[in-house]
Amino acid sequence: MRKDVRILLVGEPKVGKTSLIMSLVSEEFPDEVPLRAEEITIPADVTPERVPTHIVDYSEAEQSDEQLYQEISKANVICIVYSVNNKKSIEKVTSHWIPLISERTDKDSRVPLILVGNKSDLVEHSSMETILPIMNQYSEIETCVECSAKNLKNISELFYYAQKAVLHPTGPLYSPEEKEMKPSCIKALTRIFTISDLDNDGILNDNELNFFQRTCFNIPLAPQALEDVKNVVRKNMSDGVKDSGLTLKGFLFLHTLFIQRGRHETTWTVLRRFGYDDDLELTQEYLFPLFKIHPDCTTELNHNAYLFLQSVFDKYDKDRDCALSPDELKDLFKVFPYMPWGPDVNNTVCTNEQGWITYQGYLSQWTLTTYLDVQRCLEYLGYLGYSIIQEQESQAVAITVTRNKRIDLQKKQTQRGVFRCNVLGARDSGKSGFLQAFLGRNLARQKRIREDRKSYYAISTTYVYGQEKYLLLHEVLPDFEFLSEADLACDVVCLVYDISNPRSFEYCAKVYKKHFLDSKTPCVIIAAKSDLHEARQYYSLSPLDFCRKHKLHPPQLFTCNTDEAPSKDIYTKLTTMAMYPHMTQADLKSSTFWLRASVGATVFAVLGFAMYKALLKQR
Ligand code: GTP
Ligand code: MG
Repeated sequence: MRKDVRILLVGEPKVGKTSLIMSLVSEEFPDEVPLRAEEITIPADVTPERVPTHIVDYSEAEQSDEQLYQEISKANVICIVYSVNNKKSIEKVTSHWIPLISERTDKDSRVPLILVGNKSDLVEHSSMETILPIMNQYSEIETCVECSAKNLKNISELFYYAQKAVLHPTGPLYSPEEKEMKPSCIKALTRIFTISDLDNDGILNDNELNFFQRTCFNIPLAPQALEDVKNVVRKNMSDGVKDSGLTLKGFLFLHTLFIQRGRHETTWTVLRRFGYDDDLELTQEYLFPLFKIHPDCTTELNHNAYLFLQSVFDKYDKDRDCALSPDELKDLFKVFPYMPWGPDVNNTVCTNEQGWITYQGYLSQWTLTTYLDVQRCLEYLGYLGYSIIQEQESQAVAITVTRNKRIDLQKKQTQRGVFRCNVLGARDSGKSGFLQAFLGRNLARQKRIREDRKSYYAISTTYVYGQEKYLLLHEVLPDFEFLSEADLACDVVCLVYDISNPRSFEYCAKVYKKHFLDSKTPCVIIAAKSDLHEARQYYSLSPLDFCRKHKLHPPQLFTCNTDEAPSKDIYTKLTTMAMYPHMTQADLKSSTFWLRASVGATVFAVLGFAMYKALLKQR
């Protein structure tokens, strides 16, 4: 909402502009007034809408046209004052003032106008008959009011309407010509309805209505008021109320009614609560709340965020098959301005036999977005109405920033739930196969993946000592010369070679020696395509000798050319190494390590994760 409001009064000489301002300020009619009142500022706490308000007078005798134009362009709302007993001053409203103002203001952001008929104490009849046709002709006229500076009639109302016209403009909401709400307003309210319809049955029941009322207006609706509202809708349309709840049609009707009765601040309160600005766009502050992270930290969703996302999943998984069909997915993202997930997502996370994203896969994709691009994640949560449903200040509370990795290394413990493994290897060495196998896909299944839907990420969960952890695999492009810091930064590295290709191990050795020889990041050599005939590698050392020399695990045989889903053991191993990087190769081999690791893990098991898992089991 605006931080202040600037009201300008214009009109023919002697219609009473200065007197109106003086009457408002001193609460009595001044017999003598100057030609032009000084600009006055009314402090926020004495105005009805609690916004500082500047009131600016105009006097033809004192001001040049240039000065008038400047004031017009600075004004947020303009009151065109006429005198009800002066026909000429009314004629000038349309012949002079309205054209002059529209020439001086932007076509797209027209200032609202208010027609003010002053000196109502002097006449018996009202000027409304003459004024109403003018109002219908010009949509920028917000309202009209008759008043008297002398009797102090409707003076504070006049300034209240002016304030309201700025703070809660009708323009973006309603088209007076069509006598209906504008499409962008209907779109925004429909999104609000969808978010508030927590069980997705197309009806706002009493619980949902109460929740809506409380979040928007901070007060619950009395049961009788709830009935009254529904009765108003029932009286006006047949399908506005269904099963004693409000349908979308009924909801939209109510807002049209608010607006038509001049209570559009009600609709604006709802829109603003859901993050909309005056142009009915979601504001940047709403979508991107301030959020800072240190380079050595990562971002994860916290327990409450997972619960929320789980409830969203349940809301749209209508057939309860624990996967989102293309239609269900489309339905879920209806509250987004665009479809956030492309077809590559289906190759990044677990899917069911039909290739639909499973519950597990859905949470994995959210975890991935949070980890790789937290701003994006905040934006998405904003579209879902996270802060509103969770009754929080902003979506930022959904995110946990992990402790600096250096501290984790020092303390030899981590509370992270997501670990990143970069997968490097020569062209065709089997990296993608290694990623896809993590999602449970064997070679035959992988062959069905279209090239343009390929993903360079794969994310899923593994269990390390009973704790569920996310492992994020990232396939790095093999251009040796172009490996960047980002390509190398991770919690564990996989160097993949193809046992059947004698030229493929050299790449692993080169990358290892150049980037990981002195690094603290644990490395694993993967001997991929182990179902094929092993070739002798053209390299000074055999892979096994290379590993021995550098105190690495021996090469891990791996194949995804299996009948069933490939084994997940290697991924659990990688996660374990990512969690406990301080363990040396000797430690990792000795049995005492597993014991120690599991003790540490129990002590530091995050409570949230335990609960989250318990909930998963219930499903
Ligand atoms: P300019 O500054 O010359 O443009 O005029 P103005 O629009 O500021 O009018 P101003 O306030 O000076 O009032 C003009 C005359 O109308 C004064 O004699 C006022 O006393 C008188 N007047 C203003 N408001 C009222 C009203 O509500 N009722 C009556 N009866 N007289 C009014
Ligand atoms: Mg004056």
